[in-house]
Amino acid sequence: MSVNVDTIPTNAPAEAPEDLVAWVEEIAALTKPASIYWCDGSVEERDRLYGEMVAAGTLIPLNPELRPGSYLARSKPSDVARVESRTFICSEREIDAGPTNNWRAPDEMRATLNEVFDGSMRGRTMYVIPFSMGPLGGTISRLGVEVSDSPYVVVNMRIMTRIGTPALELIAETGDWVPAVHSVGYPLVDADGNERPDTTWPCNDDKYICHFPETREIWSYGSGYGGNALLGKKCYALRIASVLARDEGWLAEHMLILKITGPSGRVYHVTGAFPSACGKTNLAMLRPTVPGMKAETIGDDIAWMRPGPDGRLYAINPEAGFFGVAPGTSLKTNPTALQSLDHDTIFTNVALTPDGDIWWEGMTDEKPAHLVDWQGNDWTPASTTPAAHPNSRFTVRADQASSIADNWDDPAGVPIDVILFGGRRATNIPLISEAYDWEHGVFVGATVASEQTAAAEGAVGSLRRDPFAMLPFCGYNMADYWSHWLEVGKALGDKAPKIFQVNWFRKDDDGRFLWPGFGDNSRPIEWALRRVYGEVEARDGISGRIPILDDLDTDGLDIDEATLVKLFSYDTEAWSAEADVTEDYFRQFGEQAPSELFGQLDQLRQRIADA
Ligand code: OXD
Ligand code: MN
Repeated sequence: MSVNVDTIPTNAPAEAPEDLVAWVEEIAALTKPASIYWCDGSVEERDRLYGEMVAAGTLIPLNPELRPGSYLARSKPSDVARVESRTFICSEREIDAGPTNNWRAPDEMRATLNEVFDGSMRGRTMYVIPFSMGPLGGTISRLGVEVSDSPYVVVNMRIMTRIGTPALELIAETGDWVPAVHSVGYPLVDADGNERPDTTWPCNDDKYICHFPETREIWSYGSGYGGNALLGKKCYALRIASVLARDEGWLAEHMLILKITGPSGRVYHVTGAFPSACGKTNLAMLRPTVPGMKAETIGDDIAWMRPGPDGRLYAINPEAGFFGVAPGTSLKTNPTALQSLDHDTIFTNVALTPDGDIWWEGMTDEKPAHLVDWQGNDWTPASTTPAAHPNSRFTVRADQASSIADNWDDPAGVPIDVILFGGRRATNIPLISEAYDWEHGVFVGATVASEQTAAAEGAVGSLRRDPFAMLPFCGYNMADYWSHWLEVGKALGDKAPKIFQVNWFRKDDDGRFLWPGFGDNSRPIEWALRRVYGEVEARDGISGRIPILDDLDTDGLDIDEATLVKLFSYDTEAWSAEADVTEDYFRQFGEQAPSELFGQLDQLRQRIADA
């Protein structure tokens, strides 16, 4: 039995525009699904899919008394994270992908994709998921359509973006949408019509996560997990959107967005870029220890920022949910996140308790006596493997967090006062410093790094550079991206947000953290906000302007003067060595590296020499 694609009804709803229907037919002709289903985004549709996935064993319903509306999914051990080595930027010219991306010639990649997608959906339903990144109809928002053979993708996209009929209507109205094709690469019927049973987590060992920046397309094959499969997130909102932003004069960034109300009642908005494992979600749900200061969440991962009518930079969170790392989330580290997971949450690769609830490492001080681990095996505290996968996740709607700001989904976005760049640095980088100007801020963003391993901490040579925390997410040449940031700064002029570098992770010679972190990170941020309005003076330092120590609010904090001094101290030899490493780093971008960054490096060396 071979599938005759002409017999597959397209099932397009009346609202679907012709070009979209034609594209869906084209993808169906290639992938040869058994049926096509257009998602309307309704609760009925969601519940039907949940029911089907429970029946198929893909989702395990959690105890409805303890975790109503919530499910557990377990992936294959070979499909547990984003696969950077299989992520490709397929621009016409290799130089446009740059030295930090995997480049493939578009024609060559298209030929490969045509092979792997040929018949890849046989025996499955192809879901058509119209979606909006950002509030429906917002001036900064953008539209897309993902086709996928994974119902798990549909229910996750429903939480992470705005899917369904309203998005489809806007697609018909505007004609502006990004096509995104996804297949898990596990057909249930082969070309000869032989059937095979499904698995609870279908995927393929061969994976391709491909982006075509010139034609603005996404093609993802072989993985059902996270950023590989929920194509609105990293693929669209960062890799493709960074290209749109470059061409249209805005910024698509791997940044959280916070609304902060200062003790005086003044409201500020802050964005921040942090590499993985720097507590970004915790900061997005900050509980300030500064008396009278309030922090509310607007976004935890991505910010789209565009100059507004008044010339200031306005940001939206293009997502509608959080796809957060579960392990380490606890009442101590992030009570807001934990409480938001009380209901209507999809958990992936966490452990299951005997009473049908979930657990992960770090959730409680004491480990439960008995669990089923993320692979479905019995687990006790004596087990030598973790109960939850280290990259296990929760998918939850953003407005389930009690910290969500009332303006979090304002279609016009929020005006940004401060941009933070952070990294995990045991040495050199002070708790906070203010960039001397926008150009210096771009230098600071371009040199963001984390020390690679605990063992290597302190050795400057071991820095893992993650410029703007965008290393795996920039859809074009990183050096051109720096030039774009410089251009945006020129256009913003004196309306530009102030840029600060922060480091919560500095250690003393004995390897102990100098700063308590968490809620106390509100203290340096409060200093930054006062700098925005010129309420405090600052002193010049090697990395930027740093606080006069008395201006940093340390009331109620158990920290001595010597520790504070260390948090802002500069070791000129270590800084010289770091400047040399930075020069080598910039040189790998060749001609493309903007001369302004070398100018900044000269200025940095001058400050080191003068110190
Ligand atoms: C994420 C990441 O999952 O940055 O957000 O890897
Ligand atoms: Mn991220």
